Amino acid sequence: MDALKLLQKRVSVSKVTQPAPSKADLIEVFKAASRAADHGKLRPWHFLAIEGEGLNDLSNLLVTALTKANPDVSPSVVEKTKNLPFRAPMIIVSIAKCQEHPSIPKHEQRLACGAATQNMLNALFALGFGAIWKTGDLAYNEVVIEGLGLAPSDEIIGFIYVGTPAQDISEPPEVDVNSIFSVWPTK
Ligand SMILES: Cc1cc2nc3c(=O)[nH]c(=O)nc-3n(C[C@H](O)[C@H](O)[C@H](O)COP(=O)(O)O)c2cc1C
Repeated sequence: MDALKLLQKRVSVSKVTQPAPSKADLIEVFKAASRAADHGKLRPWHFLAIEGEGLNDLSNLLVTALTKANPDVSPSVVEKTKNLPFRAPMIIVSIAKCQEHPSIPKHEQRLACGAATQNMLNALFALGFGAIWKTGDLAYNEVVIEGLGLAPSDEIIGFIYVGTPAQDISEPPEVDVNSIFSVWPTK
């Protein structure tokens, strides 16, 4: 598929199965991530690829964080949280590493990390993998951040669930492209 068609056709894929991307696939994906627009070339991102036993560790970490934040949480929510990481054979955690900078505010650095994450989604789609970007309260939880070995100032931008599509990939919905742009000044 040519590059433009791919960008126009990418969709999120939530039902995925084995195999996950190989190390060689990940290299290609992170090369694409690295080409995100990035004011000042600060490279304000880092990615953690988690699979196999690591998903068990992540499951335990999410439950620990959840029960610490909400001691009265219901058993069904604990069970749901415990199972979250097993919805895909791989989770890539996308992390913004923002720094104080005299002219590049942190929100621009977060946007750069978001752009890198979108490049990653496009690259995964190009390689035939399915992926979906998710967050939720636990993305912003300090126990999770610490448990992943991150610095307190690191920010989780997303958990990207990745694998091989378990069913046919859907066509993206039609969009009224004319409604999302205008020419200025209006004549
Ligand atoms: C920052 C961010 C966080 C998101 N968090 C979630 C989430 O927690 N749960 C979810 O179902 N979708 C979430 N989404 C949306 C999906 O990743 C996806 O874009 C959406 O389902 C639309 O599908 P599409 O990408 O095929 O258009 C998030 C997207 C972004 C950019």
